[in-house]
Amino acid sequence: MKFFVDSADTDAIADLAATGMVDGVTTNPSLVAKSGRDFKELVAEICALVPGPVSAEVTALDADTMLKEADELLAIADNVCIKVPLTWDGLKATRQLADRGKMVNVTLCFSANQALLAAKAGAAFISPFVGRLDDIGADGMRLIGEIRQIYDNYSELESQILVASVRSPEHMRASALIGADVATLPPEVLKSLIAHPLTDKGLEAFLADWQKSGQSIA
Ligand code: E4P
Repeated sequence: MKFFVDSADTDAIADLAATGMVDGVTTNPSLVAKSGRDFKELVAEICALVPGPVSAEVTALDADTMLKEADELLAIADNVCIKVPLTWDGLKATRQLADRGKMVNVTLCFSANQALLAAKAGAAFISPFVGRLDDIGADGMRLIGEIRQIYDNYSELESQILVASVRSPEHMRASALIGADVATLPPEVLKSLIAHPLTDKGLEAFLADWQKSGQSIA
């Protein structure tokens, strides 16, 4: 399973990349705006921090302008992945980019049928937003299960399921159990995956006993 970091904070990305566990990064216009950084400079910096796909989202609504924006973004680095919204124009742009061998992440997916369309259009990644579905009382993880089953039913559908809008360790655990290909996690959620009170308690007890033994290893 691949771990992406869902952030435009380069310090946080660099910190997590040092673990060797970061396979890619996702950004979106809201995260970029929050960073206050120039978009292209930011994408270049993130692309240098991680070897894998860095999703950079187009903001045009029509396919022709999306493709122009995509070319600007693709010129930044080889690991740029173009993110497009799940609209008909987004899917037209996806097909053209995929035919050119470019990676596309189709974002803002909230239904199994949308995921089916994105895969038919040639998306490298489909991004279902589990947290935002939970926010409206729907079941985000159920959608991940449905998409997994649909993609597994048809070997010609090759898109990777990139679980997005991940808000908790439980989203991560459920994604891994279902067999999602990728999860993109905000830095604080990724960091929280390691936490267990029994780990802390156990370590404390081991170290206290070790100290009593009077020994040292090095
Ligand atoms: C990532 O590609 C998405 O843009 C992101 O996960 C959305 O997360 P949010 O719903 O917490 O804003």
